Amino acid sequence: MTPPRVIDERHSPPIPIPATPNNQHPAKRTPKDFRFGKVIGEGSFSTVYLAKDIHTSREYAIKVCDKRHIIREKKTEYVKREKEVLNILSSNVKATAPFFVKLYCTFQDMDRLYFVLSYAKNSELLPYINKVGSFDITCTRFYSAELLLALEHLHSLGIIHRDLKPENILLDERMHILITDFGSAKILETEPEIKEEGPQLERRNSFVGTAQYVSPELLTDKSASKSSDLWALGCIIYQMVSGLPPFRSRSEYLIFQKILKLDYDFPDGFSQSVRDLVEKLVVLDSSQRLGAKDGDSYSSIRSHPFFSGVQFETLYKQTPPQIY
Ligand code: ADE
Repeated sequence: MTPPRVIDERHSPPIPIPATPNNQHPAKRTPKDFRFGKVIGEGSFSTVYLAKDIHTSREYAIKVCDKRHIIREKKTEYVKREKEVLNILSSNVKATAPFFVKLYCTFQDMDRLYFVLSYAKNSELLPYINKVGSFDITCTRFYSAELLLALEHLHSLGIIHRDLKPENILLDERMHILITDFGSAKILETEPEIKEEGPQLERRNSFVGTAQYVSPELLTDKSASKSSDLWALGCIIYQMVSGLPPFRSRSEYLIFQKILKLDYDFPDGFSQSVRDLVEKLVVLDSSQRLGAKDGDSYSSIRSHPFFSGVQFETLYKQTPPQIY
């Protein structure tokens, strides 16, 4: 039997944009070019709508940000960063790891900013974990492997996500992952000519991601490296298997205390090979995490026994395992 042909609309050329009368620049899109539908996501200063391009009938997720609210809450830097990161990712799509929402265009009116993004038809990964209680090993392996490829690509572009969590992992129409929400991301400065020792750390700042997935170094010295995303990866892999993140408590403060003491345990029956991988990622010293010393490919993580048999180069072409 021949394998089904994959028609990948996500990476087809962007919306044909009519030229301006003098034919010099493509005309900026406006809200009138889209029919806005239901709300599919809400953030602290944005709302995401499902929208249809009236010219092509293609569906997009349009993130609408309220300008006054952003200015009032002093979040302009976050919005600029998100656009910058999405632009980098959208012009560097990797065929074997197209695991990021794509930014097709942006426009604005007096009150709002609009980001036209790929629409992830199957929404967030989180409700899938919650619905089935936990993933079986095959599903955990597949989605962990896609996440690993995504992080390899993101980090090779010098970008740290800093807020990786199941709510920011969306699923496309074929159930492959699409990572979103780059408002907390950091773009690392380009490597200096004379390479300094150790991983490239970002400058200290006041940013802290979501409590359950935040790495200890963000809590102690407010600095993150690529390895901070590997900590989050470990927490997410734990959550896929057990149904809940490893560090849980009734307040953020208590969660932070647990993270700093590495106070978590594995439920009975937790797979031994996943446990070994999680224990090598969820490590207090960021330089000691599995993969922290790797280059652009996380070869030490790829070669962990949990991933044995995974064909990383063809993951995106594979049909994801059914989630039960
Ligand atoms: N919710 C937030 N962003 C989304 C997107 N791009 N697609 C689907 N649902 C979303």
